[in-house]
Amino acid sequence: MSQQRWHPFATPESLRQAIADKLCAYANACITERGVFTLVLAGGETPRTIYAMLRHCQTDWQCWQVYFGDERCLPEGDPQRNDSMACSSWLDHVPLPTQNIHRIPADKGAAFAVPHYAQLLAGVPLFDLVLLGLGEDAHTASLFPGHDWGALAGSPAVLAVSGAPKPPTERITLSAQRLGMSRAVWFIVSGKNKQEALRRWRAGEPIPASAVNSTDSVDIFFDCAL
Ligand code: 6PG
Repeated sequence: MSQQRWHPFATPESLRQAIADKLCAYANACITERGVFTLVLAGGETPRTIYAMLRHCQTDWQCWQVYFGDERCLPEGDPQRNDSMACSSWLDHVPLPTQNIHRIPADKGAAFAVPHYAQLLAGVPLFDLVLLGLGEDAHTASLFPGHDWGALAGSPAVLAVSGAPKPPTERITLSAQRLGMSRAVWFIVSGKNKQEALRRWRAGEPIPASAVNSTDSVDIFFDCAL
């Protein structure tokens, strides 16, 4: 298991600003080192303001390759989709080439989207950074308690999810194995309602979030007292 590093913040604002600054600096360091920055985005509401802050990152947007950790099976452009949120808050406002934004074609259904995205990811052995959120029930991406998280070695890279407890029920997600194929994994956790899930994680309970490792450590940035 990767080493976990827990980073408390006093306020949601200081958490967001720190992540936006750190992400921009890390992206530029990756670009300097390897000429590319491969990033997997988290969905949900928490990252929205951080994504908006990233519009101001001074960087070479041509070098960014953006992927998604999970997607909701809704029509393209639906405001509840994770890619719609990332585009409206951030990606539509910076000169990041459209072909570098690798959406999960969740609108086409799992039978198409799962092998399609798995094939795309086969060309990306290691991400530079995976961003993840945490649900009150300790889910992350669309890996829910009681479902298959794809945590074992040899698990498929992409999973279809049916009957998710958080709507919409039909989703596509990267497995815990594939999310962990990254130089860095950052969980961004905001709100008092996440406190219990964080406590369970810290206590070593086997929750979906703790099934995600990285080639180095896993960083957890949070703004609630533990
Ligand atoms: C999604 C997610 C999910 C999310 C958490 C936290 O598509 O819903 O990727 O894992 O990150 O549920 O969501 P909030 O940030 O909205 O609390």
